[in-house]
Amino acid sequence: KKIHYFEEVTSTNNIAKEIAASEEEGTLVIAEVQKGGRGRMGREWVSPHGGIWMSVILKPGIPLRHASRLTLIAGLAVANVIRNMGLDASIKWPNDVRINGKKVCGILTEAKAEVDRVDYVVVGIGINVNMDLKDIPESIRAGSTTLKVELGRHIKRVSFLQDLLFELEQQYINFKIRPFSHILNEWLALSDTIGKEVKVTTPSRIIEGKAIGITPDGALVIKKADDTKEEIIAGRCIYAR
Ligand code: BTN
Repeated sequence: KKIHYFEEVTSTNNIAKEIAASEEEGTLVIAEVQKGGRGRMGREWVSPHGGIWMSVILKPGIPLRHASRLTLIAGLAVANVIRNMGLDASIKWPNDVRINGKKVCGILTEAKAEVDRVDYVVVGIGINVNMDLKDIPESIRAGSTTLKVELGRHIKRVSFLQDLLFELEQQYINFKIRPFSHILNEWLALSDTIGKEVKVTTPSRIIEGKAIGITPDGALVIKKADDTKEEIIAGRCIYAR
């Protein structure tokens, strides 16, 4: 599989999307620094030296509505690799990997589809690895952490990346051959969202209630105060207490 390595890019997701049509699935774009790193919902993703900023091109040939399943898979893979280092990583819906409630990784999945089949999916993964807290913008510092901060030592990024790519591939193989419910159960076991009172913000509104489950498409199921249920496919999730 091909790896495109850059010292500096705007965003590895942008590059991956530019080359996706002509590249094989499994192709990786990775950079030391991103100048225009993008987060979900139009947010900026600060990406200095020391992190892992990467995008994987996948061509699973699935319906577009299933593309968010790949976000869940990537979160699972990252959480597993971090847990293997002895840290208690959990997943906050839909895509944050956290240690002790602090974000260490974010995932931005972007897909291009023809009618309802995806042509390709770009899974962008950003992991705070060897940065110090001072390298993280003050506005988000309190809610963020890095692997170096959590472990109290420098991490070898190359071996971390090898482990992550191996785990991602395992998850992706499982995704293709097993019913999605298996992966969902694994995801649920690592998620700390289910059972919590949450407040989810979408571009159009705010939904409050108890997170009670996740649908096979990765939507969060919320039970509201009036006992009605609602499924939210994308949004920003805050734990209310
Ligand atoms: C989020 O939590 O909002 C998602 C953050 C995703 C960041 C990664 S870093 C590699 C890839 N390139 C980008 O511009 N974004 C993703």
